[in-house]
Amino acid sequence: MRDRLLAAEKVKAIDWRDSALFLLDQRVLPFDETWLRYDSARGVADAIRTMVVRGAPAIGIAAAYAVVLGARQRLAAGGDWRAALAADITLLAASRPTAVNLFWALNRMRERLARVAGDDQALAVLEAEAVSIHESDREANLTMAQLGVELIRKRQGNPQVLLTHCNTGALATGGFGTALGVIRAAYLEGLVEQVYADETRPWLQGSRLTAWELANEGIPVSLNADSAAAHIMRTKGVTWVIVGADRITANGDVANKIGTYQLAVNAMHHDVRFMVVAPSSTIDMSLENGEQIPIEERAGSELLEVAGKRVGADVRAFNPVFDVTPADLIDAIVTEKGVVERPNAAKMEQLMCRKRLH
Ligand code: MRU
Repeated sequence: MRDRLLAAEKVKAIDWRDSALFLLDQRVLPFDETWLRYDSARGVADAIRTMVVRGAPAIGIAAAYAVVLGARQRLAAGGDWRAALAADITLLAASRPTAVNLFWALNRMRERLARVAGDDQALAVLEAEAVSIHESDREANLTMAQLGVELIRKRQGNPQVLLTHCNTGALATGGFGTALGVIRAAYLEGLVEQVYADETRPWLQGSRLTAWELANEGIPVSLNADSAAAHIMRTKGVTWVIVGADRITANGDVANKIGTYQLAVNAMHHDVRFMVVAPSSTIDMSLENGEQIPIEERAGSELLEVAGKRVGADVRAFNPVFDVTPADLIDAIVTEKGVVERPNAAKMEQLMCRKRLH
């Protein structure tokens, strides 16, 4: 299956070439396909904050390349370049709070740098580390897609009806996608009759990005309001809700795009299986449970305005952009290290001791 998946890799959102970082501007998709060029860590921090690049793994990869850009600038400026780069890393770490992949990638870059003694090798070593973070995410996507497909195949009655939330595809990762990677692979295996994509208010990752990615590949997708999901589960024969994650804690609780928690509650009520697909770089074993995850709140204008035009009354808006799904509502967490069914602390611990499968 791996070769078929590789052949199906068409869209990408992150490109490292000519010693610069190019990001596909996700704020203007699906109408404009605009690539923006970055040559400073500060610029990339801004791109993450303003969501030019988004999705937990993609944010981590972009931040890793940003460290290379920062190192080049700081080395050229001379002086205490390591201290100046540490300030760049602090700036990158402040760009978004919830997706742990950002901090995971920055830590990897920081630790790699600490092991380089001489300055002459530093840039090449950092670049190799960033490329390796990118490549291993791509590989992880392929492994997770195959593991997720096997879970879908085991359920009775193929082809099946799937529901997904937010965007977890090529745009959100270094490769094929996490949850959307499983859905794309399942389609290639003839297991998918229909995909329902939640529009994902307020930023519309579902209607602008997921629907675009699936339609580009001819996968039968229909868009629905987030509030239609329970009705769809009851009336349309949904067998799986499949989502990604921004941070998974040591007990298996999952932070993901706002609206994921209510999907899990509804899935349990309707006997629909609930699958979370995320690389191990999304797992934060330093946090005991989901209550400890910082939840990003974004500007109220994302709710009160549509395409820059005010549509809401003159009130304040509360706009948390992630929520936490408790582990006991989750049927399976799929990672590149393997699958954890009915997650709990002991099973998460065992998973993290394993090596990658491929
Ligand atoms: O605010 P976003 O668009 O960065 O949120 C993205 C999500 O919540 C995704 O589901 C998650 O990052 C997984 S992406 C593979």
